[in-house]
Amino acid sequence: LIQSAGKRPLQGLCVMITAGPTREAIDPVRYLSNHSSGKMGYALAQAAVEAGAKVTLVSGPVSLDAPLGCERVLIQTAQQMHNAVTERIAKTDIFIGCAAVSDYRPSLCEEQKIKKTDKDKLTLTLVKNPDILGDVAALSHPPFTLGFAAETQQVKQYAQHKLVNKKLDMIAANDVSKQNIGFNSDMNALNVYWATGETSLPITDKLNLARQLLELVAAKYKEK
Ligand code: CTP
Ligand code: CA
Repeated sequence: LIQSAGKRPLQGLCVMITAGPTREAIDPVRYLSNHSSGKMGYALAQAAVEAGAKVTLVSGPVSLDAPLGCERVLIQTAQQMHNAVTERIAKTDIFIGCAAVSDYRPSLCEEQKIKKTDKDKLTLTLVKNPDILGDVAALSHPPFTLGFAAETQQVKQYAQHKLVNKKLDMIAANDVSKQNIGFNSDMNALNVYWATGETSLPITDKLNLARQLLELVAAKYKEK
């Protein structure tokens, strides 16, 4: 492993990261998903390995290789991600929810391909998926939790609302209304909030941003 001497702020800690999109089957050939590339979550996994952590990356389908030195668990659906996280959460010190989890899934997956009919409308019924990050934070002995919030408006209010509502230790907000950052981009910028403070990490490449974010997480983890 490539590791410059000195800075290993997460030495010996277990870090679990969710990344990428989920896919929710509609029928055998179709699914609901989103534009998440997984780049931010994978950058965090690489940065956490570099920082000395034992890293578990629970990932939806993406076109990225697992960073060297981390254990990757590949899943498709939100329910599978929830199961994979729940089964492995016990010894986790820091949990980072970076996945773009589908909030809803089709209430049933048709066994056969849905055929086109002569009707102009087709209605899908969706049911809510479990909140993976929320469930981790609600454990009786939760790890340090960092969530992400992708917002198109009122970034600070919505992000702080998620911090409080999900009982997180920290939340990193993306303003996805701005071009060139966030979804699918190699660059990103984050506003980070915790109970007693906030900071902004200006636009840079996602690996650099991940390193800065993990330094902040390591400092707050040690305070806790
Ligand atoms: N998250 C999760 N499980 C879900 C939905 C979201 O773990 N079923 C996590 C995401 O990984 C992210 C955080 O919760 O870290 C916030 O996700 P976001 O979609 O911004 O918030 P939601 O609570 O789903 O609210 P909304 O989509 O309405 O903004
Ligand atoms: Ca959501």
